[in-house]
Amino acid sequence: MRYLTIALTKGRLAKKALALLEASGITCDEMHTDSRKLIFVNEELKIKFFLAKATDVPTYVEYGAADIGVVGKDTILEERKNLYEVLDLGFGKCSMVVAGPPEMGALLTHNNAIRVATKYPNIAKDHFYNKKNQKVEIIKLNGSIELAPLVGLSEVIVDIVETGSTLRENGLVVLEQICPISARVVVNRVSLKMEQERIHRIIEGMKENL
Ligand code: PRP
Repeated sequence: MRYLTIALTKGRLAKKALALLEASGITCDEMHTDSRKLIFVNEELKIKFFLAKATDVPTYVEYGAADIGVVGKDTILEERKNLYEVLDLGFGKCSMVVAGPPEMGALLTHNNAIRVATKYPNIAKDHFYNKKNQKVEIIKLNGSIELAPLVGLSEVIVDIVETGSTLRENGLVVLEQICPISARVVVNRVSLKMEQERIHRIIEGMKENL
């Protein structure tokens, strides 16, 4: 039997995904230690786990370096990799939105040439170019996106909102909803055919313990 490899997104999603896997009998005690090890193995079940940055999880799964991945819908939409999305885990819930100072709302109703700062250029392009037909300039940033309208880099941002406190504390508001986000299970296309039974069992186990 070959090893099946599961890629988990570092941080909160990994903790919740691991709890779910453990509840369904797929344990990995090693992963709870504070070691610098990158790969953890359950020898009995022939399953390997590793932690990766969110944006890299779809890449590992597309190439088959991981058979299964747990990653946010935001990353799946942004990375546009060739893989199967098989399960909505229902945690890691947040919304992809257009946000900005309240007065910028008016700039979204006409075809204004505004600037949009975001960590998600593909999602922003799809929203503005394809859905709204608004020719905006998209500026890619890597974090603290809320800063952009505060310092005059852009009029609005495209970002995820969870509790809304970052927006609130910076005088920003949600101007448009784009889509709901949550953690998803993704599977490599070839693995799903070759290891159908084992993968199906893992996914069913997670589903039953949601
Ligand atoms: C995310 C997101 C917002 C914030 C939203 O940033 O980009 O900034 O969380 O959460 P809230 O609605 O609960 O305030 P993250 O903390 O991942 O860091 P980043 O800004 O460096 O991307």
